[in-house]
Amino acid sequence: MGAFLLSATWLGALLLLLLVLLLVASLGGRNRRPDEPPLDKGHIPWLGHALEFGKDAATFLSDMRKKHGDIFTVQVAGKFVTVLLDPHSYDVVLWESYTKLDFGQYARILMKRMFDVKLPDYDSNEEKTMLRMTLKDKNLSSLTKAMCLNLQTILLPSPSRASGQWKEEDLFQLSYSTMFRAGFLTLYGNESRSYEDLNSQAKDRVHSMEVYNAYYKLDRFLMKAARSTLNVVEKWKFCNIRKDLWKFFSVERLDSRANQSVWLNIYRQHLVDLGVNEDMQTRAMVLQLWSTQSNAGPAVFWLLLFLLKHPPAMAAVQAEMERLFRNRRLTTRPICEIINQKVLDSTPILDSALNETLRLTAAPFISREVLQDMTLRLAAGRKYHLRKGDRLCLFPLISPQMDPEIYEEPEKFIYDRFLNSDGTEKTDFYKGGEKLKYYNMPWGAGINVCIGKFFAVNSIKLCVFHLLNYFDLELKDSAKEIPGFDKQRYGFGMLQPETDVRIRYKLKDQ
Ligand code: HEM
Repeated sequence: MGAFLLSATWLGALLLLLLVLLLVASLGGRNRRPDEPPLDKGHIPWLGHALEFGKDAATFLSDMRKKHGDIFTVQVAGKFVTVLLDPHSYDVVLWESYTKLDFGQYARILMKRMFDVKLPDYDSNEEKTMLRMTLKDKNLSSLTKAMCLNLQTILLPSPSRASGQWKEEDLFQLSYSTMFRAGFLTLYGNESRSYEDLNSQAKDRVHSMEVYNAYYKLDRFLMKAARSTLNVVEKWKFCNIRKDLWKFFSVERLDSRANQSVWLNIYRQHLVDLGVNEDMQTRAMVLQLWSTQSNAGPAVFWLLLFLLKHPPAMAAVQAEMERLFRNRRLTTRPICEIINQKVLDSTPILDSALNETLRLTAAPFISREVLQDMTLRLAAGRKYHLRKGDRLCLFPLISPQMDPEIYEEPEKFIYDRFLNSDGTEKTDFYKGGEKLKYYNMPWGAGINVCIGKFFAVNSIKLCVFHLLNYFDLELKDSAKEIPGFDKQRYGFGMLQPETDVRIRYKLKDQ
């Protein structure tokens, strides 16, 4: 009883202290100076707009834009975040020196919160420059070939699938698991060197499914982990799942895999050079699993769903694919035998449909920490002062991607929006009468642009080719509306649906 009273008194004192601190924070808080963007601290001291921001950043930031214009500063959990939504002014942020606007600091915070990774002397720019080479030119063509073979292993496993029976599945699960599993095998390696070995293929299917299942569980918690909002039970579950995943990525297990990518070898050597111990190397492998595998699967899902919901778009993409394959006599040969970069680059209609899909569903924040007091010089001669210690954030989903001034009926999927009448790619889009340099930014831009873009595009196309070429694919309920977004994912790359979509599919009669 005594102990209870004592702890109740302590709790009371603690709450009182917290209240006093919040009061002090609100009274002595920050005020806008004349040369700064409009400031909106929200009504809750210190916390500011954290709840609205975390719950649905797109709606919150659109409301703020209506209230304050295309640049403003909001208070979010003690941090002051300046949000810039004028795409004509993005260049000054994207190419500013990282001694002023730094990308790495926030990346380090997220690495620790989400993956418990802390690397000594971590320099994100150096790492990116090094890894970029492993995903282009000769390395890109080896990766693309491997991805094609691994997709075949996952999607066309055995002659028994040739039974032509309809099978029901959830489209998001099908897309995410297929891309994740094939992508994982491509980057982290296979059971044995030979892609043709049936025994090794079977092991690859089982192992990649185990990794996917564990990863998918982790993925459910990642947004809350990034925002440090996991409750005690969730945190316990999250840490256990993460430990389960680590088991798949021990140094010994990775050493035993065949066909490892150049990307993996270079990254592992980089960690060794940094003096990172084996335990931390394993954790970094799971972090990279997220960097490399979390976006392409959701992209395939939205692309297929939009095509299934828009029959003229599906017909145009199918016709383009059939023309391409007929010219290369693919009808009688497996896709992986004829695929090369030239073939993959000959699909302007699919390219436009993919760009349109990404315009609607890619929602990364582009964030920078302000390392010193500085002046931000925007388009049309506007100037704003930024304070050291604040964060600067662009949110391209709102502008340019969903801006009605740039795109007519921006909420609609129009598969040929990025096509000129002569079949070439459309790149001229305007705001305020001026041509835009940045009109669609699913890959980020500037210093933090996605280094896996070309591999991602090739992989997405290969998956679509496999699914549309070998399978009949239908929506179970074609009248059902496209699901909304899981709103807590705004800011973290590709969006995921709130609910899955049932489809049925079967191998085509050859
Ligand atoms: C549709 C697919 C993809 C989209 C939309 C996408 C988008 C992005 C974006 C916006 C960033 C910048 C993230 C940030 O600044 O916080 C990024 C970074 C990155 N992406 Fe992608 N990405 C995709 C697929 C891939 C793939 C398949 C790879 C595989 C190799 C990859 C590798 C990376 C890496 C290594 C980074 C750097 C992460 C870091 O800086 O730590 N991405 N991606």
